[in-house]
Amino acid sequence: MTQGPLTTEAGAPVADNQNSETAGVGGPMLLQDQHLLEKLAHFNRERIPERVVHARGAGAYGTFKVTADVTPYTRAAFLSEIGKETEVFLRFSTVAGNLGAADAVRDPRGFSLKFYTEEGNYDLVGNNTPVFFIRDAIKFPDFIHTQKRDPYTGSQEADNVWDFWGLSPEATHQVTWLFGDRGIPASYRHMDGFGSHTFQWQNEAGEAFWVKYHFKTDQGIKNLTAQEAEVLAGKDPDSHQRDLRESIERGEFPTWTVQVQIMPVADAATYRFNPFDLTKVWPHADYPPVEIGKLELNRNPENVFAEVEQAIFSPAHFVPGIGPSPDKMLQGRLFAYADAHRYRVGINADHLPVNRPHATEARSYSRDGYLYDGRHKGAKNYEPNSFGGPAQTDRPLWAPTAVAGSTGNHVAPVHAEDDDFVQAGNLYRLMSEDEKTRLVDNLAGNIAGVSRADIAERAIGNFRRADEDFGKRLEAAVQALRG
Ligand code: HEM
Repeated sequence: MTQGPLTTEAGAPVADNQNSETAGVGGPMLLQDQHLLEKLAHFNRERIPERVVHARGAGAYGTFKVTADVTPYTRAAFLSEIGKETEVFLRFSTVAGNLGAADAVRDPRGFSLKFYTEEGNYDLVGNNTPVFFIRDAIKFPDFIHTQKRDPYTGSQEADNVWDFWGLSPEATHQVTWLFGDRGIPASYRHMDGFGSHTFQWQNEAGEAFWVKYHFKTDQGIKNLTAQEAEVLAGKDPDSHQRDLRESIERGEFPTWTVQVQIMPVADAATYRFNPFDLTKVWPHADYPPVEIGKLELNRNPENVFAEVEQAIFSPAHFVPGIGPSPDKMLQGRLFAYADAHRYRVGINADHLPVNRPHATEARSYSRDGYLYDGRHKGAKNYEPNSFGGPAQTDRPLWAPTAVAGSTGNHVAPVHAEDDDFVQAGNLYRLMSEDEKTRLVDNLAGNIAGVSRADIAERAIGNFRRADEDFGKRLEAAVQALRG
């Protein structure tokens, strides 16, 4: 920052930043005090709408390095060579809390990654969980309404949360995960990340594969118990944000080992689970994760508002060789994010330094709008043109997907072993006795806060259907708490 006198926004020197101008000593203030008016007006406009979900977060820049040859599966240029490095920006977040909420709460964590590749920015907007609560985007606004503040009480309400989960049995797997040990990570550094959805990779020969991404923390998994989190959230609401910034300041750069599960397209139709159902994992025994890279965070943003609050990530930001799957959640997200960005940051949000491509440039014919910076100068604003303007490549980014049948509000296809409870039950049975006890206690503590017995009973019924023992223990624990 250059030094020099304080100025107005127009650059004129300011004579007094302590005393506003008045008509005489002790008199009313004057409209001609441009500095005062500008200061008050700018202050009133300092906030932009917070994200409707994942409002609370922290971010850092870093590097992704390729460690395995994945060219048989994808032609994405940033994955083309072992040793190749790409700049990234990663924003971590919680889901339900507002902008000023505490970090140490039981909630999934967002894991939004922007790869600044030479073929454009690739955004992978995942969570620290491999699955999600619902499997169709049409349910997302209802789900989030139950997680945020009730329109009457203005608070988060256990009744709403458990009413929705009880009536949405597909949530049982993710809820079992959330109330288990990993439901409150000790920091953003000590948790895994997941792309969560199934995505498509396409190789140079045009062959397609279905893939799932995993980011395994090299710091080791560390969690907080419900009691530890309660104390920390009260004492230090910024705990996770501070931990990330300070570790990078100390030169302790957090890293993650990046893995993918790869499914040949021909397997998808007959796989035992619908491979595009976000409430299910692909068990590792079926498709073992293979290591493909290393992710390191090593640079803090200089300005949180400019680089974290105004950062935009969209699941629709793909690059050649990577594309969507027919997962109905992902499909809905392909619309929702860019729409949110236009509302929240504005139509030229992609032009901001954190959001624009860093390893190439955007060459579109979209123009003007609020805060347009004139970057296209006098270039033609239509296409086709005879002035050497950018033109289409004629090569789709990803492979076409085969479709069948008629349009309609179809339930997603159900495969041989699909039901809403099988993987929740498997997760429960994998836990040690101690883990099961903590899971049941965490759930019971929450369900006991529900005011209506039928809502609590329906919610418990879903866990019983996942595993008889799970349901029995939970019912007893809730009864003990309710007296
Ligand atoms: C159809 C379901 C979903 C819809 C409609 C939806 C919509 C949204 C919207 C509107 C935002 C705010 C974006 C912004 O203002 O910049 C957001 C943020 C976010 N969502 Fe979703 N979401 C959905 C499902 C998911 C799922 C399944 C995941 C993870 C697997 C996820 C992860 C995130 C993350 C990490 C953010 C924060 C992005 C950031 O750091 O800026 N969402 N979501």
